[in-house]
Amino acid sequence: MALIEFDHVFKHYPGSASAAVDDLNLHIEAGEFLTLLGPSGSGKTTTLMLLAGFEAPNSGTIRLGGNAIESLPAHQRQIGVVFQNYSLFPHMTVAQNVAFPLSVRKQPAAVIADKVAAALAKVHLQGLAERRPQQLSGGQQQRVALARALVFEPRLVLMDEPLSALDKKLREEMQLEIRRLHRELGVTMVFVTHDQSEAMTLSDRVAVFNHGRIEQLASPQTLYDAPANPFVANFLGDNNVLTGALDVGASAIRTPGGQWLQARLRRAAPNGDAAAATLCVRPEFLRVGLNAQELGTSNCLNARLLDVIHQGDHWRLVASVGGVAEPAPQWFAKVSPAALPSGLTVGQSLCLGFAPEDAWIF
Ligand SMILES: Nc1ncnc2c1ncn2[C@@H]1O[C@H](COP(=O)(O)OP(=O)(O)OP(=O)(O)O)[C@@H](O)[C@H]1O
Ligand SMILES: [Mg+2]
Repeated sequence: MALIEFDHVFKHYPGSASAAVDDLNLHIEAGEFLTLLGPSGSGKTTTLMLLAGFEAPNSGTIRLGGNAIESLPAHQRQIGVVFQNYSLFPHMTVAQNVAFPLSVRKQPAAVIADKVAAALAKVHLQGLAERRPQQLSGGQQQRVALARALVFEPRLVLMDEPLSALDKKLREEMQLEIRRLHRELGVTMVFVTHDQSEAMTLSDRVAVFNHGRIEQLASPQTLYDAPANPFVANFLGDNNVLTGALDVGASAIRTPGGQWLQARLRRAAPNGDAAAATLCVRPEFLRVGLNAQELGTSNCLNARLLDVIHQGDHWRLVASVGGVAEPAPQWFAKVSPAALPSGLTVGQSLCLGFAPEDAWIF
């Protein structure tokens, strides 16, 4: 049985035009690290608020350990929370901040002292117990917030963009800390981020949100290698897109420039023929050549080179594709230095090749 179940949950804030969470169905397993990833306004925070008990759904059921919790107050849910703006109490020391959830639960002082010391050790802050939050760095403050969320041994910890205020290096360090804590404690974690690389670093599974619904829920690798639709393909990783007329039998599209491109078909056959379809291929799967023969791939898309950018370990080529469409879509190719044709000049024609199994038609 899943630890958490959202069953047809619907949340509509008064006065807003559309639902923040729209018929959400989601099961979260005990011990898993699940990330909610999606654009601004897609309902990630609202989903956490519903789970924490800070908001109530308009309809639907939320179960924790098999029991419906919609009418259970937040403090009785045994859920630890770390929110970006759920700041520490400035007038309290680190130790007092971490002790807070235990004090409100009226635990004995000796128990509190032991648990606070253990929680601070878990996040490597033993020496800083007597400082106040303003005497700590951003990363240290987030660790105090994490210790405060973990100190009462919740079975579930919710984190809403806890690292977004930190610089890149510190954020990456904290990601590894959170991974370690998740492994060591075995606690279920639900994490919200905008940042796809953060989601991929941390998660067992990622739910990709869009307009209050889940577009796809899968492991990071599955989302990347087998996206369910163009939204997911665009949201995780770089992606090149071209629309054309679908030929289901050939598993191909015909581009506006009249070229046929084959790929894996990821949609049902349309009722009418020649329906529009979208082809997606990632930049690292493209090969670049001056002509089709040189490439040796069955797919070859004519393009015009717009720019060549050196990125250290690889080259990034920008090209316009598609023939007649104006403005022509731009594609990116990620090419290793050894695979870069010699004598490329901006403005010249070239071919972008790829294998059918490395691209999708939606
Ligand atoms: N208290 C509120 N009252 C009215 N509308 C709200 C409220 N909170 C959120 N919304 C609306 O609900 C929708 C979902 O918001 P939510 O905060 O869940 O998105 P989010 O995915 O967390 O976005 P972000 O990445 O920007 O934090 C948005 O359209 C937002 O404007
Ligand atoms: Mg949010």
